[in-house]
Parts: sequence; structure tokens; C-alpha cells
Amino acid sequence: MNYGYLCKTSLHGVGAVVGMVMLRRLDEAGEAIGFFFEGREIKARRGDSVASALLLAGIKEFRTTAVSDAKRGPYCMMGICFECLVEIDGVPNRQACMTLVEPDMRVRRQHAAAELAFHETP
Ligand code: FES
Repeated sequence: MNYGYLCKTSLHGVGAVVGMVMLRRLDEAGEAIGFFFEGREIKARRGDSVASALLLAGIKEFRTTAVSDAKRGPYCMMGICFECLVEIDGVPNRQACMTLVEPDMRVRRQHAAAELAFHETP
């Protein structure tokens, strides 16, 4: 998986400023593809995670909390914290940092806790 970004304090290079850090792509390897975030087309590279592609596009708020409606975004970028949950192609609770971008996928912010489908086991 290509995490596709680097946190830098330098002002050199091309990238996105997210919070107080500047992000930039480490390399341009991978086919150029596009997907949609809340209707906005986002450019990415095959092998990018959804989280890294969104951060590079300057999007840092991925979900809101169930209790206080506080905004949350990726923290660990390695599948541990679950702060990056989004809805992808209608499926909630997807970890953006652990999901690779696919062409034309539809990603949306997740508001509060998504309903989980539980199935009775016989
Ligand atoms: S950023 Fe921590 S699980 Fe995705």
C-alpha cells in the first residue's frame, strides 16, 4: 500500500497544507485515477489509501462523533485508532487509511455512529 504522503514542516514542494503540516506525495508512481468525495472529484494514484488521497486534497475531517458531533480525521494511518471511518460506496465504517482507492468509488463523511447489521446465528 502506498500511503502516498509525507508530513513535512518545510514549505518546499507541491502538496496540501492540512492543519499545521504540509503534505506532499513521495513519488508519482501508479496510474492516475479519480474518485468522488461527497460529489467532488478527487485525483489519486492507484495504490493510494483513501485517507492519504483525501488528506492530499486538503480534506481532514472524515467523520463526526456520536455524542458531541465533534469532527474527526485520520490519526494513526495504520488501522489502529478508527478515527478515519467513512462511508464507501454505501457501506459505513470503512477505515479510509486501510482502504485503497478504486476508480469512481463514492466516499462520504460518516456522521455519528453508523448502524451495524447484526444477523442471528442459528
Ligand atoms: S487513521 Fe487510525 S485507523 Fe485509520
